[in-house]
Amino acid sequence: MTIPVKPGRGGSRFSSDPDRRDPEQLWSPKSGTQAPWDSWRAHEALQQPKYPDDEALRDVTAVLRRQPPLVFAGEVDDLRVWLGAAGRGEAFVLTGGDCAETFAEATADHLRLKIQTLLQMAVVLTYGASLPVVKIGRIAGQYAKPRSKDLETRGGVTLPSYRGDAVNSFEFTPEARIPDPGRLLETYHHASSTLNLIRAFTKGGYADLRLVHHWNRGFTQNPAYSRYESLAEEIHRAVLFMQAAGADFDSLREVDLYSSHEALLLEYESAMTRIDSRTGLAYDTSGHFLWVGERTRDLEGAHIELLRSVRNPIGVKLGPTTTVEQMLGLVERLNPDGEEGRLTFITRMGAAKIREALPPLLEAAKADGRPVTWMTDPMHGNTITSSNGYKTRRFETIMDEVGGFFESHDEVGTVPGGIHVELTGDDVTEVVGGSEELDEEELAKRYETVVDPRLNHQQSLEMAFQVAEYLRRGKVEGA
Ligand code: TRP
Ligand code: MN
Repeated sequence: MTIPVKPGRGGSRFSSDPDRRDPEQLWSPKSGTQAPWDSWRAHEALQQPKYPDDEALRDVTAVLRRQPPLVFAGEVDDLRVWLGAAGRGEAFVLTGGDCAETFAEATADHLRLKIQTLLQMAVVLTYGASLPVVKIGRIAGQYAKPRSKDLETRGGVTLPSYRGDAVNSFEFTPEARIPDPGRLLETYHHASSTLNLIRAFTKGGYADLRLVHHWNRGFTQNPAYSRYESLAEEIHRAVLFMQAAGADFDSLREVDLYSSHEALLLEYESAMTRIDSRTGLAYDTSGHFLWVGERTRDLEGAHIELLRSVRNPIGVKLGPTTTVEQMLGLVERLNPDGEEGRLTFITRMGAAKIREALPPLLEAAKADGRPVTWMTDPMHGNTITSSNGYKTRRFETIMDEVGGFFESHDEVGTVPGGIHVELTGDDVTEVVGGSEELDEEELAKRYETVVDPRLNHQQSLEMAFQVAEYLRRGKVEGA
């Protein structure tokens, strides 16, 4: 019997079961032809490290190409469907995690606290929205950073900028700052062990809704947060009601926590791309959701070209100067057929600008008609320098941008699909304000970020309570 082979995709000579096809049979590096997703090489690639040794880079990517995928096509497809639901207002997305993950902090304790924080926020948001919350971490791959300057000068010494642990070391010495391709392999291994821990935490009882709720009780017992007591009390009564009614099912005990990062390093992302044996389509298996930054989202650039070629749900960051034309160009390039969940715009306008800058984009996308999932990144448009020299953000300004996001969607009649924030589960002091009134002096106490300031554990929960209030208002008024 001959097995039909789709043109251009290949198929297995050994099995008629698509799940058992050997991906090597579909497209092989040995074929001598360029991988179908390698067309980015003909485009301009911004923000790439300049490795001193091309051969070392080739050796590393050859090893990466042989590694097992970090995430699986089926999970990626599930997330795309969820993001489609969020675009229609049938789910709400929470994305959170570090600005830049570091290898040193990929420890069980740091990861546990981060996951705990995300779960605690998710419970509050699930209640506030009365909708499923799609949980995505900036986690297990967020190791590379675009930089506005190639060089950094300290005390008269000039060295290459730190570009994230995937590229070089934060340490300010000439050796440490040389881009090292070996770090791409380390990135893979840290991402892999982080994902392993995530799977254990989210499927092994630690994510039980009742346990997570119990942690939240601790938060609202702090007098600083007494204004959230009534909402917390409502959630508590809902949990007691569920218990009294005997509700007890697997979905109370487990969550799906998806992994995302900025797809910045093209050699890494393309080396992690695999053909799915079932569908014959390319998936970037370095993470479920991948986004392109404001600095690398040029329509003709290599980043857009690479992500165009993979099936993952894709995000693009949009700053306040984004034109309608650029935005529609991205829709045309990344989601020409208007597939739901395929394209998310993550807007980072700044609190002072969002109410003017966002509505015209929403209007234009609405008129275009192809679905977009809209998320707010209220962090990156609101970075300031404190009087004592720290790069910081003010909690109240961040929340003002979140408010502007909900108002803009309300005005235009589009759907606010989710939030994307920089946070950590640790008690750091990097963002000022919040009900505990962290002030500029206190920034010095525990300022640990290697790039941007993050909400600490308490500030993250406070944000969740405030966003839940927005969502509930929408719900009650809309009902
Ligand atoms: N599985 C459901 C969900 O992910 C309910 C749930 C269980 C949950 N544990 C949770 C929700 C922790 C938020 C946080 O939504
Ligand atoms: Mn950042």
